[in-house]
Amino acid sequence: MSWRQTWTRASEDPEGYWLEQAKRVPWTRAPSKALTHVDGVERWFADGHLNTAEACLDHHVDHGRGDQDALIWDSPVSGQSRRYTYRELRDEVARVAGGLRALGVEQGDRVIIYMPMVPEAAIAMLACARIGAVHSVVFGGFAPNELAVRIDDARPKVLLTATCGIEIQRVIPYLPLVEAAIAQSDHPPVHTVVLPREQAPLQTSMEVLTWAQAFADADPVDPVPVPATHPLYVLYTSGTTGRPKGVVRDHGGHAVALMTSLEQVYGVQPGDVYWAGSDVGWVVGHSYIVYGPLMYGCTTIMYEGKPVRTPDAGALWRVIDQYQVNVFFTAPTAFRAVRKEDPDAALMRRYDQSSLRALFLAGERLDPSTLEWLEGLVDVPVVDHWWQTETGWPIVGRPLGLDDLPGKAGSAGVPIPGWDVRVLRPDASEADPGEQGAVVIKRPLPPGMLQTLWEDESRFRASYLDPWPGFYHTSDGGYLDEDGYVHILGRTDDVINVAGHRLSTGEMEEVVAANAAVAECAVIGIHDDLKGQIPFGLVVLKDGADISAEALEQELVQAVRAQIGPIACFRQAVVVQRLPKTRSGKILRRTLREQVDTGKAKVPATIDDPAILDEIKAVLQGRGIGALG
Ligand code: COA
Ligand code: AMP
Repeated sequence: MSWRQTWTRASEDPEGYWLEQAKRVPWTRAPSKALTHVDGVERWFADGHLNTAEACLDHHVDHGRGDQDALIWDSPVSGQSRRYTYRELRDEVARVAGGLRALGVEQGDRVIIYMPMVPEAAIAMLACARIGAVHSVVFGGFAPNELAVRIDDARPKVLLTATCGIEIQRVIPYLPLVEAAIAQSDHPPVHTVVLPREQAPLQTSMEVLTWAQAFADADPVDPVPVPATHPLYVLYTSGTTGRPKGVVRDHGGHAVALMTSLEQVYGVQPGDVYWAGSDVGWVVGHSYIVYGPLMYGCTTIMYEGKPVRTPDAGALWRVIDQYQVNVFFTAPTAFRAVRKEDPDAALMRRYDQSSLRALFLAGERLDPSTLEWLEGLVDVPVVDHWWQTETGWPIVGRPLGLDDLPGKAGSAGVPIPGWDVRVLRPDASEADPGEQGAVVIKRPLPPGMLQTLWEDESRFRASYLDPWPGFYHTSDGGYLDEDGYVHILGRTDDVINVAGHRLSTGEMEEVVAANAAVAECAVIGIHDDLKGQIPFGLVVLKDGADISAEALEQELVQAVRAQIGPIACFRQAVVVQRLPKTRSGKILRRTLREQVDTGKAKVPATIDDPAILDEIKAVLQGRGIGALG
């Protein structure tokens, strides 16, 4: 069936369509019904039972894939690599699952995984899934405070970590970070298990178990079938405040959605080699490094390092050649970095790319120049696609497994079957083609979508369901064109995408505002040639504050690094005399952002003094930052 036929079928008969797709999954008890509702919120395959780790591993071992590579770890930063067949990975996961259970982890208990890109991180995720425990992976670039917030929200029984991560050539010891986070948290884990790595010794005053002590002699356990709606994981993502949102994913809907997407969106077949160049700390890592490719019987590549820097900008092409990668997925920023280092692709030409069938990009806007460069470089489709942590799988793209639709520069593609994308005006009427508005998804929402926010149903409803009754609020702005292609123009809230990483400017403002010299502040995203966006602070000093602008900037940069982490890339803050406000005193952050980013926004009639924007413009121009207004 073509994309259009499939999309129409999914939207006219979601019940029938998704029950059909559900046949892809090895249920222990097949669902009799696809869609039900609990308190008005979609639940999928509610009477079905399965175990996600079993679907990813045991099922394939039992059906002839036992000797196929399941996971290949390639780590130029440590000089190591390792391969696991499906059988080896199943056995390892079963043992770690047994060890977790021996530590007291039961179905529904939480386990925090704060680990670098090592196979043990994926093994830990699958081991939790195997016993019905709920994992929460925290990205290694986050500071102790961020880890502590997540520990307190998830209240884990066990925290799994390693002695270090490796950032290019820099060893980042994790234990001081974990120690600081645990000291700061109100609900410390009962056990902390550490994977020793040769780059950093296991030195800590915490009481810990080593990976071997906890797992080497553990008795392997069988997978525990759980209801389809049982939570598989909580993944925290940035919202508009300092409190991250704990996105809850289920077992059943997630499995069906991922299996469907592997075939329809990415056009892969079981046995193919799939590489998502991301990190297990992000949703891309959950869906397309660990669960999706394994469930579909592919070989997944887990890469530790920056695909563009270790050792050089040819690394990415080397991996594709060495492991015969069929589909590669990363953020546009990675290719911008490659292009910067290797504009004529001389390094690329050292490697064979003939295994590659498609390149996928997501996580931020794909700029036309990078798209054009890539299309001139590789002889395969270069596919932009749009989705979010909350959705778990692509909303919009060019579904290669269904059709050969043409790409369109500036558009992320067409809605994937299951997603009914609309654009609304402020009065909730539908925008005309080409007219910008709020991008929303008409309900019912498909399987795989977040179920709720961890122990915060009211925030879930307020964030996603209440703003536009009958629709899911994506927080992205954009438009649909005459051909039904979706154009995403960017976030309409206080979230920015820095090098494909989602960050909250509201959270950075909270850190900046805590400085004793700061009266008020605004953090906005400004354009960056490499990272797409980077945060930029505008600060008004308190009367009588006795600090130079340079010293304050240093303090603020250090504070954001210490509180949120280096990943925030907060490197600039300038002092301004005033910030633009409405007559009622509200800071016009959106006006600032739009003026800086695009220079297009109109100065609203409500602004108290339009001359303020000129003052800010002068300050920014002094830093070489683009035009305002
Ligand atoms: N642990 C600890 N620190 C980390 C980290 C981790 N896992 N990941 C990043 N950091 C640190 C970096 O070392 C850097 O620190 P510094 O300020 O001391 O130099 C800082 O966080 C910013 O990192 P990043 O934004 O990644 O910048 P970079 O210059 O190191 O690398 C790219 C830039 C473009 C090469 C890199 O971001 C990249 O390859 N991105 C594309 C792939 C991707 O991650 N996509 C995500 C979703 S698909
Ligand atoms: P995350 O939850 O980290 O995946 O970030 C989701 C956000 O990234 C979206 O809301 C968009 O703002 C942005 N995004 C993701 N993919 C794209 C894309 N293909 N084009 C434009 N923006 C994107």
